[in-house]
Amino acid sequence: MPERIIINRMGFNNPGAEAVAQALAEWRALGRWPSHPVGINLGKSKITPLEKAAEDYANSFRALWPHGDFFVVNVSSPNTPNLRTLQDKGALDEILAAIQEAQKSEVKGQRSETRDQSTKPASPSRITDHAPVLHSFSVGGSRITSTLSPVTQKPILVKVAPDLSLEALDEILELAGPRKIAGIVATNTTITRPDTNDPKLRRIYGEAGGLSGPPLRARSTEIIRHLYRQTRGRLPIIGVGGIFDAADAWEKITAGASLVQLYTGLVYEGAGLAKAIVRGMQERLEEHGMKDLREAVGSDAQ
Ligand SMILES: Cc1cc2nc3c(=O)[nH]c(=O)nc-3n(C[C@H](O)[C@H](O)[C@H](O)COP(=O)(O)O)c2cc1C
Repeated sequence: MPERIIINRMGFNNPGAEAVAQALAEWRALGRWPSHPVGINLGKSKITPLEKAAEDYANSFRALWPHGDFFVVNVSSPNTPNLRTLQDKGALDEILAAIQEAQKSEVKGQRSETRDQSTKPASPSRITDHAPVLHSFSVGGSRITSTLSPVTQKPILVKVAPDLSLEALDEILELAGPRKIAGIVATNTTITRPDTNDPKLRRIYGEAGGLSGPPLRARSTEIIRHLYRQTRGRLPIIGVGGIFDAADAWEKITAGASLVQLYTGLVYEGAGLAKAIVRGMQERLEEHGMKDLREAVGSDAQ
């Protein structure tokens, strides 16, 4: 449609963390693992009551831990009833604490497994033995694991809704230190709708679900800029929301994002969009006399 929006109400329809873990292990064993970092987005099951949310996230994290290079705690999808209430500081704190506990025991397990193997004669590796040992990786110049201990801690990011108030975002930021949040993904889809007098659009906007695409762009950039200012650029931000070309990506980066993510833009523009954006970034760096994207991150956030 000309507005280039999507309204989705998919929910987290997937075969479950165990089945996904199995599929990822098979990919790895078949040598089909990509060379770039793989992020895994975690959401609570619809049937899990809110009081059990922390356990649910931690269980999915544990099942998928060997396979992801970084994890995103998604508490901002509008399509799982009440999921977004988990953005409240207390609830999110509980989820992150449970995940960090799971992280500790997984790391401990892997360390003792590595120790055992070094004293044993060589044997054929199990699939999970190929799990990546991540020290840190760079997002647009920001070392994303810099606050985490070395060897196998995996970065845990939080994905926020564009409909949160700036005060609510500040409360989430208060958890960054104590719960070792490695970054924020800003933003998910919105439950708000643009104003319109067009009857056809009104009908479409009346559909339930989260809206993505151009109407989300400015709000998502505003949130990125706010987060960047509040953290003085110390917390990596993945910028997402309404990116359709290099100008949109540049807007997110100069507002404070170290990395950008696309969804609706890919649907309307196709896979070539990523390449066009990279080319556009190179052109903009030259125009601004910058050598590295790092110089651009947050340059329009002061
Ligand atoms: C069909 C569809 C499914 C999505 N599923 C998820 C999801 O499972 N987890 C999540 O964090 N975000 C999900 N999103 C949100 C996107 O990742 C992104 O945050 C949002 O669409 C805004 O970016 P965009 O305007 O580039 O699409 C989904 C979006 C769409 C359109």
